[in-house]
Amino acid sequence: MKTILITGGAGFLGSHLCRYFLEKNNKVFCVDNFLTGNNSNIEDLNTHPQFHFIHHNMCHPLYIGEKLDAILHFASPASPIDYQKVPIPTLKVGALGTHNALGLARAHNASILLASTSEVYGDPQIHPQKEDYWGHVNPIGPRGCYDEAKRFLEALTFAYHRTHKLKTSIVRIFNTYGPNMRLQDGRAVPNFISQALENKDMTIHGDGSQTRSFCYVLDLVEGIAKALEVNQPDPINLGNPQEMTVLQCAQKIIEATLSHSKIVFEKRPVDDPNVRRPDITRAKEILGWKPTTTLSEGLKKTIPYFKKVLSISE
Ligand SMILES: NC(=O)c1ccc[n+]([C@@H]2O[C@H](COP(=O)([O-])OP(=O)(O)OC[C@H]3O[C@@H](n4cnc5c(N)ncnc54)[C@H](O)[C@@H]3O)[C@@H](O)[C@H]2O)c1
Repeated sequence: MKTILITGGAGFLGSHLCRYFLEKNNKVFCVDNFLTGNNSNIEDLNTHPQFHFIHHNMCHPLYIGEKLDAILHFASPASPIDYQKVPIPTLKVGALGTHNALGLARAHNASILLASTSEVYGDPQIHPQKEDYWGHVNPIGPRGCYDEAKRFLEALTFAYHRTHKLKTSIVRIFNTYGPNMRLQDGRAVPNFISQALENKDMTIHGDGSQTRSFCYVLDLVEGIAKALEVNQPDPINLGNPQEMTVLQCAQKIIEATLSHSKIVFEKRPVDDPNVRRPDITRAKEILGWKPTTTLSEGLKKTIPYFKKVLSISE
């Protein structure tokens, strides 16, 4: 049994990670300040004897009295709506929060895996995106607070790895969806599902021809667990390389929910990337990982969660 600390553990990805590591018989410390997370994501875990919740803002130092084996640093707003509402806390958790997480790992001689993002590539000029692409980011645009926070997270992680020989891993996560996302989270899949289930207009930014690739959350969690096991400091892309337009995604969700929603087009947000698809060659080679869930299968597992939240009967 290992002792694992997960920051951002009450969020979408963090809550799945807490569950995954508990199921594998580990002890889990979940740290969160509920900035964008929700107690309902972890409520059922509170009675688990190996689960311990710590209400804490990672921008402040954290001391843990017992030996930690591993840390997963996932605390950070992740949806554009969230981080544009709270740009300073986003930058702070990417900088100070990451510093505190790395310091904690150093104090415990624990391995640490940090959540980075495809957003470090910005609006990419290389397609699909490989890890050796340095990105095309507008540091002062509305997304800059998130993109640059994560680029700083990567730089600080490497400084700790080089200076203190810390065992670090960085995963660059591409769009992921699944249960425990908030209805008002603003990301494409939860937005479309909630609009479709309520037969409201489905709002697409621009003409919907921009592409994304959507990874089902449990596929991603498997990739993260594998990345924690290997000794590889270089960033690894994790995501589903099956690319589609945002319009195609909306149409798939209309079909899957049997919705009567109409698709309507809205102004495209500033710096919205045109294309997004991970090159996962490195993940395949180093981790032996690739996602196995198609969007249709993933939607079948996700839609019932949203129905429950919206109190819509099956
Ligand atoms: N979901 C995705 O598609 C995706 C893609 C790329 C990267 N990521 C990264 O994965 C991580 C989790 O994303 P998510 O989708 O679960 O987002 P989320 O908003 O659901 O979860 C983030 C969690 O971090 C917590 N948090 C934020 N600031 C904190 C602080 N200062 N101290 C303690 N807790 C804090 C929030 O309360 C929340 O529970 C983020 O670091 C994000 O950048 C996610």
